[in-house]
Amino acid sequence: MFSSRIINKHNFNAVISTSSHVFGCPYLVPSCRNCREFSIMEGGNIHPDSQKTYQVVVAATRDMGIGKNGKLPWKLPSDLKFFKEITTSTSDPTKKNAVIMGRKTWDSIPLQYRPLSGRLNVVLSRSTTCSVASSENVVTCGSIPSALELLASSPYSLEIDKVFVIGGGQILREAMNGTGCEAIHMTEIDANIDCDTFIPHVDLSVFRPWCSSLPLTENDIRYHFVSYVRVIWNMKGNSIAVTEEPSFLSGRKTLR
Ligand SMILES: NC(=O)c1ccc[n+]([C@@H]2O[C@H](COP(=O)([O-])OP(=O)(O)OC[C@H]3O[C@@H](n4cnc5c(N)ncnc54)[C@H](OP(=O)(O)O)[C@@H]3O)[C@@H](O)[C@H]2O)c1
Repeated sequence: MFSSRIINKHNFNAVISTSSHVFGCPYLVPSCRNCREFSIMEGGNIHPDSQKTYQVVVAATRDMGIGKNGKLPWKLPSDLKFFKEITTSTSDPTKKNAVIMGRKTWDSIPLQYRPLSGRLNVVLSRSTTCSVASSENVVTCGSIPSALELLASSPYSLEIDKVFVIGGGQILREAMNGTGCEAIHMTEIDANIDCDTFIPHVDLSVFRPWCSSLPLTENDIRYHFVSYVRVIWNMKGNSIAVTEEPSFLSGRKTLR
């Protein structure tokens, strides 16, 4: 179970280490690459109700590389499995999740795997002649706010559970630290791999590591999963309250 307690910059590692088995394996004190970069300031989610909030799911190298030549420059089967499970699992079995992606990421998905099954695929393009074919599980939008507004309005508001922004670089550079972002699930690849697409570091004045998996090694690449959640600061500005499992993380305990 997730713990309920007040944590601050000195003891949140202890909270994480005594927390749950979200990834199906015991949580460790995270060796996340952002953990040393604390800063203390006021924060909070001020996203308007007219837009859905969202979570980011991404895999990144040490220097925050995420892609090369329009593809993933690594083969990590368990990461793909994790991605599918986190983006597909819902807290309400009558609903499905939405995945928002840039047009180039859509193009990078092999034909036989797109649209990503069991999820509403929202493809972002500024082009009025966008080549993405509409189908039952695919919609196109001209901006991130318009996609979040669409998902917050009928009929999607009744059908969609969680919203995940899944890349690529252009989309994540805008969305990763946006006010509507509730959590960032990062596959932290412990290697420098040649990339041409990069994302920013997690803003630790806004997000804190919530949990981390045991490390995995596949194809000689070591990596682990870290979830960062948006924090609510108290009035003193030097501690944060985590009072319960964030509702948007529900269902995570079934993973892996
Ligand atoms: N490691 C990971 O977890 C991960 C995840 C996903 C993707 N990737 C990698 O990332 C790379 C692709 O990223 P990328 O940055 O080149 O492209 P991208 O972000 O996937 O897509 C860029 C396209 O999205 C549209 N777009 C961008 N910003 C928009 C906005 N604000 N509103 C509306 N439309 C917008 C534009 O489409 P139009 O040109 O049609 O206007 C733009 O050309 C690939 O290498 C892929 O494999 C990695």
